[in-house]
Amino acid sequence: MEANAPIVKFHSVAKRYGDGALVLDGIDLSVETGDFVTLIGPSGCGKSTVLKLVSGLSPWTTGEVTVAGQAPRQARDRQSCIFQDATLLPWLTAQANVELPMRLRGENTAVRRARAAEMLSLVRLNDARDFYPRQLSGGMKMRVSIARALSVAPELLLLDEPFGALDEMTRNHLNEELLALRARAPFTAIFVTHSVSEAVFLSNRIFVMAARPGRFQAEVRVEFPCPRRPELREQPEFQAKVNEVSRLLHQVEGVEVR
Ligand SMILES: Nc1ncnc2c1ncn2[C@@H]1O[C@H](COP(=O)(O)OP(=O)(O)O)[C@@H](O)[C@H]1O
Ligand SMILES: [Mg+2]
Repeated sequence: MEANAPIVKFHSVAKRYGDGALVLDGIDLSVETGDFVTLIGPSGCGKSTVLKLVSGLSPWTTGEVTVAGQAPRQARDRQSCIFQDATLLPWLTAQANVELPMRLRGENTAVRRARAAEMLSLVRLNDARDFYPRQLSGGMKMRVSIARALSVAPELLLLDEPFGALDEMTRNHLNEELLALRARAPFTAIFVTHSVSEAVFLSNRIFVMAARPGRFQAEVRVEFPCPRRPELREQPEFQAKVNEVSRLLHQVEGVEVR
């Protein structure tokens, strides 16, 4: 992966839905190849909307958004999305769910099978290939969803609160797995979360957003080297970063902190 080439660019972007109020205003963003960027901010500040603009699912109002120098819709093949709800098809096995995006791209059966098996093994679900979603725990469903998203080797992965519904231990494990996967199959990530410690653990850049209209209030750089081990969470430097981001978040939420 070529480092430091911008893959996502927002230039003075504003967004409103229909003739409603501005949901985003004055958004400037340059995501470099290899970045793990996290958006954090109060509910309704426009985090999901930013992802919708990147994926070409919704148009911006003014300014410009590009993905790899193209209009987002032209760059759909470069990206995959993961949502909080794993969105697996209940009538398909784990394996068939992982194969689905490849099927939609016209990949042949042998390639699909092999690639899906490889992805499921990367997320440690070899033994659950033939299970249906109802037979999987929340954490396992999310692993299938990750395997499905990575099966097409996306350059860019958009993650909208993917681990928000999971317990903390499962979330921590999946955070570690996500970084391990990234070391094997590099992708640039734009990640949305409400968890400050998750943001600090995963990201090299965190954008704290404010609401009404949604905007970037502060950027926090997280310089911990990779690979990041679980023990990092116990280091005082880690806690200091968590405190820094929490304080910024409290400021945008209008809560006094000392
Ligand atoms: N499809 C839509 N039509 C109209 N308003 C929307 C739509 N999607 C989101 N909004 C509004 O845009 C604002 C930002 O929403 P969203 O991007 O989902 O915020 P977040 O993900 O930060 O919670 C909210 O006020 C929300 O009600
Ligand atoms: Mg959202």
